[in-house]
Amino acid sequence: MAKSSPSFQCSACNATSTKWSGRCDDCGAWNTVSEVKPLSSGPASKTLGGARGHHLTLTDLATTSEPPPRTLAGVDELDRVLGGGLVEASAILVGGDPGIGKSTLLLQAAARFARNGLKVIYVSGEEATAQVQMRAQRLGLTESPVKLAAETNLRDILTTLEAENPNLVIIDSIQTMWADNVESAPGSVSQVRSAAHELTTFAKRKGMAVIMVGHVTKEGQIAGPRVVEHMVDTVLYFEGERGHPFRILRAHKNRFGPADEIGVFEMTGRGLAEVKNPSALFLSERGTPQPGSVVFAGIEGSRPMLCEFQALVAPSPHSNPRRTVVGWDGGRLAMILAVIESRAGVPFTGLDVYLNVAGGLRVTEPAADLAVAAALISAREDAALPADCVVFGEISLSGGLRPAPQTENRLKEAEKLGFSSAIAPLTKKGVQTGLGVRQMDDLVTFVKDVFGDR
Ligand code: TYD
Ligand code: MG
Repeated sequence: MAKSSPSFQCSACNATSTKWSGRCDDCGAWNTVSEVKPLSSGPASKTLGGARGHHLTLTDLATTSEPPPRTLAGVDELDRVLGGGLVEASAILVGGDPGIGKSTLLLQAAARFARNGLKVIYVSGEEATAQVQMRAQRLGLTESPVKLAAETNLRDILTTLEAENPNLVIIDSIQTMWADNVESAPGSVSQVRSAAHELTTFAKRKGMAVIMVGHVTKEGQIAGPRVVEHMVDTVLYFEGERGHPFRILRAHKNRFGPADEIGVFEMTGRGLAEVKNPSALFLSERGTPQPGSVVFAGIEGSRPMLCEFQALVAPSPHSNPRRTVVGWDGGRLAMILAVIESRAGVPFTGLDVYLNVAGGLRVTEPAADLAVAAALISAREDAALPADCVVFGEISLSGGLRPAPQTENRLKEAEKLGFSSAIAPLTKKGVQTGLGVRQMDDLVTFVKDVFGDR
């Protein structure tokens, strides 16, 4: 058997190396590198460092236990993202950029859960109680029975929770928490990991739910929420573009519900308001259709959602033309441009390309490919698509169009919002809809059908 080389790991950043050093090559911390002993010393070994382990009790896959109890906030946009309300004894991470509205969201959520019968404690490590109280006043929540503390000492917080026995505790934020048994500074990876671990195990043991706020740090997210993601049951990210009032709460991981579900909110002068009909909202600023503007019939989680892609194409003064994209993936844009050029013969050489999703929404679905292509070609040809038309479908590298999941839900939503036609990939079984649907199976047909002989 090949002899494995020794392995060393930094306790601050988890970087591994094959040799010991006094200072970690990766994060620069001193005296954090130590040897990691391999778990077993050989394939034949039944013991770990000489000591025998306990024989585990193995069980069947079938279960007789009930699904865990849940409490609804009574805010559909939040309850849906949680997978149908807050699960008892669960750990949730809410990540997002500083200033996006996490504290506002969680104070409002705390008040809702408290009103619905939970005992809720809100611990702020970032703001003084007076500041949180002022926010509560602005949000009209001062009557709510939420209990508040401003504290960063984890030992004191756990002692308080032990005595108070709440149903839900909110920790704002995990980066400010300080465990006195860990030597590094608050906000460091070891502190964040250890605080999250203590809170999560405490929550499981006591049957309490814990929601932890985590700031996403711009610099590589080393001490960001990433180190906590695998410990918790649910990871939600709160997103939005600066300058836009819309905020999206997106489930990235959920052990108790579907991932990829989203909730849409609007930041107002009195906190976050639910947006019940996001399609109408994301299309509200649309005037008469311009070249480059295309409405995409998308699906976010379990819900259809319409939004507008806007493209601008202009002669480039640069030798390397610009490709700028907001609200969609830059790599995917490059791919779609390449497919349009090589399969459909519409060149973009020497042209700057800008692509934007209106309203600050971020679209991740591959089904947006055809809407993007339509926006790009429409801008390139200076020809607008019909105002009453929605577009969707995935594009393959060969220029073929692939059917998108939930075709009928997309069409239904478009019809509800007053659209009367759609361009979509060919599906095996026909679609039932009141819309006039033009179905096609490749990009060449699409370009010829929509933009004629150029
Ligand atoms: P905050 O919840 O403090 O963000 P985070 O906890 O993610 O850092 O809110 C940040 C912004 O929200 C702040 O710039 C002010 C704005 N805001 C409103 O527009 N309306 C409100 O009612 C509140 C409370 C905040
Ligand atoms: Mg905050």
